[in-house]
Amino acid sequence: MITVKSARELELMGRAGRVVGATLALVASRARPGVSTADLDALAEEFIRSHDGATPSFKGLYGYPATLCTSLNDEVVHGIPSPRRVLREGDVLSVDVGACIGGFHADSALTVPVGPVPPATEALLRTTDAALAAGIAAVRAGAQVGDIGHAVQQVAEDAGYSVVRELVGHGIGSAFHEEPQVPNFGAPRKGVRLLAGMTIAIEPMVNAGRREVRTLPDKWTVVTADGSLSAHFEHTVVVTDDGARILTRRPASTS
Ligand code: MF3
Ligand code: CO
Repeated sequence: MITVKSARELELMGRAGRVVGATLALVASRARPGVSTADLDALAEEFIRSHDGATPSFKGLYGYPATLCTSLNDEVVHGIPSPRRVLREGDVLSVDVGACIGGFHADSALTVPVGPVPPATEALLRTTDAALAAGIAAVRAGAQVGDIGHAVQQVAEDAGYSVVRELVGHGIGSAFHEEPQVPNFGAPRKGVRLLAGMTIAIEPMVNAGRREVRTLPDKWTVVTADGSLSAHFEHTVVVTDDGARILTRRPASTS
C-alpha cells in the first residue's frame, strides 16, 4: 500500500530524519584508520538512543543484528559491523542508518573516504552523491518513479559507472520498507505516480566496474561481482507540489 503522510506523521519523520543526519555526520567524523566498524556501530546506537524516544530502525529488522550497515570498498550494502573490521587509510566506507521516533522511520546513507584516496575514488563518491541529487531533483507531485530512476542512471552511466539493479529505494513511514519500490534505473514517464505527502528513500548504489553483485555466505553483505569499488548515498524525502523536501539533511560540514 502506498501511503500519504499527515502533518503529524511528517513531523515525526522529520525528527527521525534529523537524528539520522546527525548520526551520519558523527560517524563520518570518526571514520579514521584504526577504528573498527563495531566501534562506529556502538557510537551510533548510543547517539540515536540519547535522543528522546529514538531507536535504531535496523536492529532486528529481518533479523539484522546492528544499528548501522558498514560496507567497505567492494561491499555495496548491508556489511555487518565487526570488531575485526578495522578501517585502514585508503578504504571507502559506506554507512547506512535508520532511526524511528513515535513509530515513524527515516533512512539515509553516505560513503566517505578513510584518509586520502585516489582521485578516481573521490570521483566515484562525488558522482554517486550527484546521482542522488539528480534523483531528488526529479521528485515532485505528478512525477513518476521512472523519472527518478532515469535521472539517477543518467548521471552514473554518463560518468562511466554502473548502477546496481537488484537493490532499490523504497517508500518509508510507519513501516521501514513501504511501496513503491524506487529503482535507480528506468525510463521517464513510467511507473508509479508520486503524490504530495508520499515519503520515499532514494538510494543509488553505484559500482566503478560492472553492475552485477553477489551476496556473501553471511547472507547479508552484498559485494560487487567483479571486486570493483562501490558507493551508496541515500536520503529520505517528502514529495511536495514543487519538489522534494529532504528529511535526512546532515548538519553542515559533512557531505
Ligand atoms: N537501509 C537499508 C535500506 O534502505 C535497510 C537496511 S535493511 C537491514 O533498505 F535489514 F539491514 F537493516
Ligand atoms: Co533505504
